[in-house]
Amino acid sequence: MDTISDTKSVSSEDAVAPDVMPRTGRTYLSVLDLSPEALEACLTLAARLKRERHLGADAPTARALRGHSLALLFDKPSLRTRTGFEIAMRELGGNVTCPPSADALGTREPLADVARSLERWVSVAAIRTSEQMRLREFVEATTRLRIVNALTNEEHPCQALADCLTVRERWGAVRGRTLAYVGDGNNVAASLTHAAMMLGLNLRLASPKRFALPEATLTAARRVARHGATVVQLQDPVEAVRGADAVYADVWTSMGQEADQTRRRAAFQGYRVTSALMAEANDDAVFMHCLPAHRGEEVDADVLEGPRSVVFDQAENRLHTQKALLLMMLGGTDLC
Ligand code: CP
Ligand code: NVA
Repeated sequence: MDTISDTKSVSSEDAVAPDVMPRTGRTYLSVLDLSPEALEACLTLAARLKRERHLGADAPTARALRGHSLALLFDKPSLRTRTGFEIAMRELGGNVTCPPSADALGTREPLADVARSLERWVSVAAIRTSEQMRLREFVEATTRLRIVNALTNEEHPCQALADCLTVRERWGAVRGRTLAYVGDGNNVAASLTHAAMMLGLNLRLASPKRFALPEATLTAARRVARHGATVVQLQDPVEAVRGADAVYADVWTSMGQEADQTRRRAAFQGYRVTSALMAEANDDAVFMHCLPAHRGEEVDADVLEGPRSVVFDQAENRLHTQKALLLMMLGGTDLC
């Protein structure tokens, strides 16, 4: 399998897009598939694509992925990820196909056969499914197909790209800032932790003990930490949020965990982001959420709708960052 270490150095988060963009490898199953330099470069490219979007068909990248097709294979619901990828691919001049999930990810045939068929037609597949292992089956069955994790139970690396672009836009530099994540140690928390460590963003996670991020996730994240970034796991949301520059919430019950909702609702009482909790953060702290959100559950409506909320910037940035990722994976950066 390719790795993503063949990158050129773009170390400053404030750098303009470099002349030669680092390429990624064949997979983006995890933020950890990127080098810190490639992550920085992806965000820089995404910011540029955002600035150039108004040029439409005259944008320098409008035909960058001509001749490429993206397959979207989703066996869980999605609005932002799916729509973001569809629009991204079209705006880069490529095609999109959405085979029914029951055909591609169901029991009709082995995943390896789906992968080996798809690679004859498309360059890249973005897959949303349950276990991360299922993505590995795809990767192992093919040699050409690029594979993107569009959310699994364990990780949501596309979300982390948009989250990082959002705070970078707000703060300019993210190094040395502190983000507090309140709630379930889930897929969103894992990918955010990976990305934060690579960018030098300090993280405080507050979760009930049995819903904390696995220690192995923290260890892997600490291994790639740059600029002295730290991650601490706490149980007290107030302790996590006090003096933070951003407060992040996600649902208490992720897709696929619905049968456990009652137990989870009970366990997460006290982990709702309220205006009182936000008051513990810095005065200019932003509120973040990957969406969809449950008002009155993990976040109060006045926080989600309030002036500090950047949740729709995050949603918008799904498009720009997924465009950048596709360009880096498919070599379209040569045409930028
Ligand atoms: N945040 C996110 O991934 O949204 P969707 O589930 O709508 O894709
Ligand atoms: N943790 C949530 C994220 C949704 C975008 C889930 O997996 O359902």
